[in-house]
Amino acid sequence: MNEESAKKVCLPEEEAPLRPFSLVIFGGAGDLSRRMILPALYHLWAEGLLAEDFSVTAFGLPRLTDGEYREFARAAIEEFLPRKYSAGGFGGFASRLNCLSSAFDSDEGYARLAEALKAAAAGRRRTVVLYLAVPPALTPVIVRKLGEHGVAGLGLDLRIVAEKPFGRDRAGAEALNRELQGVFAEREIYRIDHYLGKETVQNILFFRFANAIFEPLWNARYIDNVQITVAESLGVAHRGAFYEQAGVVRDIVQNHILQLLGLVAMEPPAAFTPEQIRAEKQKVLHSIRPFSGEDLRGGVVLGQYGPGVAGGEEVPGYRAEKDVSPASAVPTFMAARFLIDNWRWAGVPFYVRTGKRLAKRATEIAIQFKQPPLRLFKGTCDSLEPNILFLGIAPRENISLRFGVKALNTVSRVEPVAMNYDYAGEAGETSYPTYRRLLLDCLKGDPMLFVSQDGVETMWSVVDPLIRHWETHPPADFPNYAAGTWGPDAAAALPARDGREWLNGE
Ligand code: BG6
Repeated sequence: MNEESAKKVCLPEEEAPLRPFSLVIFGGAGDLSRRMILPALYHLWAEGLLAEDFSVTAFGLPRLTDGEYREFARAAIEEFLPRKYSAGGFGGFASRLNCLSSAFDSDEGYARLAEALKAAAAGRRRTVVLYLAVPPALTPVIVRKLGEHGVAGLGLDLRIVAEKPFGRDRAGAEALNRELQGVFAEREIYRIDHYLGKETVQNILFFRFANAIFEPLWNARYIDNVQITVAESLGVAHRGAFYEQAGVVRDIVQNHILQLLGLVAMEPPAAFTPEQIRAEKQKVLHSIRPFSGEDLRGGVVLGQYGPGVAGGEEVPGYRAEKDVSPASAVPTFMAARFLIDNWRWAGVPFYVRTGKRLAKRATEIAIQFKQPPLRLFKGTCDSLEPNILFLGIAPRENISLRFGVKALNTVSRVEPVAMNYDYAGEAGETSYPTYRRLLLDCLKGDPMLFVSQDGVETMWSVVDPLIRHWETHPPADFPNYAAGTWGPDAAAALPARDGREWLNGE
């Protein structure tokens, strides 16, 4: 469809102008700010989407002058924002950045912050976003100090942004939520799962509900199994200390994978609103069959990478990474079979696999359909390739459908072929940086792509038994897969037990 005809069916999108705002980044000179937040903010500025009147304050330990912080931001943007988005001038953006050097538990720092926010908001409605880009242990401290210094009571149009992990288990998440809700209203709390900011993840709902032809088949009657793969080729890199505390289940499954599963499996929402979408995802999470007994022993495979070859280079095993114990029992891989006990999905396995140092980077969802009810071509084709729909999330952003056709100039041979749509297309256009959208929505006050309190807590309820089982029965065979492979052998055996196999999109 060309642009002209697209206009006929869709109203033009208008970005509402943003109100003046103050963004305070706790940990503004940290890694997340450098890689994600500052480049995304600059992207919005270069697009002309930010209000004329805005300020960004980095709150944190390093004793930087405003000038030094601006230099830090410039270097971050140059390094992490693709050139085509960062071609504009930097000076106008930089003049809005400043640094408030303070320890995270220093009353003096919060008093200065409260004064500055009060002065900026004097007499006019101003959005204030408090972004916690800090290690999770600091969140309660900062929230308490913000409460003590009355920041939530200044009559500001306030939002507080929290990054994962939200706690280490359900009880921890509940405690964290109590801390946050002790100072802020739930509608002011924006919990980030950056997967929800990805274009291709948002597209899952568009693909399902903007088309008439897939949804009637989207159920146990026609779908044989669903697979969700979040495969990374990188190791834990410089995040060994964090990863030793987290492991793959807390790092990826509790959040990103369960969000993907919710979007694939949910019922059509009554409206395209945050409340309705969250409510439908929540119902799916509640329908996941709890892991217990046999499932924990045989239906879940954990792994940890040993040395191997990745990207043509020899790489160390997990236990030899920086800040990792040489006897670590922390899993870097998980494969599992989830079952959803509701009318739509009864009996359809959802196979999930994720890990670090796998054969390649690929995040994708595969929907495998059942075989046709009658094998008309069985004389020449004993088994037909099933229809498979692949939703490519990253790095390839695509949708591809495999189906059978009559092989040309044969009598009755069926050949598998694919129909493919790539977002990149001929223009090579790819999606904007993920945090751009999340920041923009947060500044606008749209919580659609953020996670609710009960969402976070229910996701922990799903994975808590897995984590408990692993922590009480630490695997004795780690490391059990070589870097650069598809994980432990037992992972391949998981769908094989049900007569199925892992599917790869490319
Ligand atoms: C983060 C995890 O949430 O997601 C990382 O903490 C992981 O360990 C990352 O590498 C993966 O995100 P993406 O967008 O690269 O798939």
